Amino acid sequence: MKHSTQVELIKRVFDMHEQKTTSMGDNIYRNPISDYICSDQAQLEHQQLFRDHPLVMCLTSHMPNPGDYVTDELSGVPVLVTRNTEGQVRAFLNVCRHRGSQVAHGSGSGKKVFVCPYHAWSYDLEGRSRSRGPSEAFPDICADNASLVPLPAVEKNGIIWVKPTPGGDLDADDLLQGLGPELASFKLETTSHYQTSNLHKQMNWKLVIDTFLETWHIGTLHRQTVAPIFQPNINVFDAFGRNGRFILPRRSILELQNQPEAEWDLLKHSAIIYLLFPNTLIVWQGDHIETWRSFPKGSSTDECIAEAALYSPEPATSERAKQHWDKNMKLLLATVEEEDFPVCLDIQRGFRSNAQGFITFGRNEPGLTHYHHQMRSLLGLREAPATSG
Ligand code: FES
Ligand SMILES: [Fe+2]
Repeated sequence: MKHSTQVELIKRVFDMHEQKTTSMGDNIYRNPISDYICSDQAQLEHQQLFRDHPLVMCLTSHMPNPGDYVTDELSGVPVLVTRNTEGQVRAFLNVCRHRGSQVAHGSGSGKKVFVCPYHAWSYDLEGRSRSRGPSEAFPDICADNASLVPLPAVEKNGIIWVKPTPGGDLDADDLLQGLGPELASFKLETTSHYQTSNLHKQMNWKLVIDTFLETWHIGTLHRQTVAPIFQPNINVFDAFGRNGRFILPRRSILELQNQPEAEWDLLKHSAIIYLLFPNTLIVWQGDHIETWRSFPKGSSTDECIAEAALYSPEPATSERAKQHWDKNMKLLLATVEEEDFPVCLDIQRGFRSNAQGFITFGRNEPGLTHYHHQMRSLLGLREAPATSG
């Protein structure tokens, strides 16, 4: 992040601290309960967000070298992402052209050829069909009509996106919505993938994102865990098109008041959450990066998979480093598993009680308003009129 941006953001934090306030939207926002329980909306999301919209697959550093690959089926579509011999990212439907088995599982490296586990049809890193069993058994079947079906993919600033439906080109700048230069400065491609965990929860997939889009609850829900680290009730939110950025200042940021501006370092004194629409968060944690992706489970409105991944600044080669990052991963999962998600599960059950037709985002929760406004506008859904009370 440019130093001038850091200074501007730190000044905003100081102002908010002095005024005892935080980023405020213009109005409160009433978000209908149907957002979380309506199967017609889930159907729209399925098509427009999880089929037609590009999705972040992983960071570059999960598959940095030629021959590396990652598979993913969280959107419901089996996807294979490869890095070819020139170092470019390619993506395909992970579906064998013989009888449809998946040609790769998990992730790995050093691949030149993917051999289907069923009858050994094989494919190279470009998805091109290599061998197809006895030729007399498959007349007229050749590389031109039996290669893996390509999916649009793009890589920029250490982030890889894939659209789970064939056809079209992806424009990374359009996906970054102005966040490109700032994210580039984090050099995400130089990090190292440490671990990924999937959490299966009985709640709508958007509640995973919602729980990160305001920090007001830190003082109450997380008072025993992370509240001592962060400035209570202060978060600086800015929208970047459909995306967004939150600064969560650490309590230590106030030390900068006594230091010359030229030495101010926001990254040392805050966590930063980048929302990449529609379902991804990239979180700067001071010394490492976390990513969160959230997906509906099948067509359910009340079930989701939340994927958390930790990327360390360097590969964890020593036992000591592994212990350190294991501890970080455990803490990251424990906070959400023991504190955030139990509340989200209560909320989801409450949605079904008919207690109210909408929930209310306060003016001090502008990230939530922004996210759901963008979501409803993309899906063509009606919004409640803006109101200040
Ligand atoms: S299904 Fe892949 S080789 Fe038969
Ligand atoms: Fe939280």
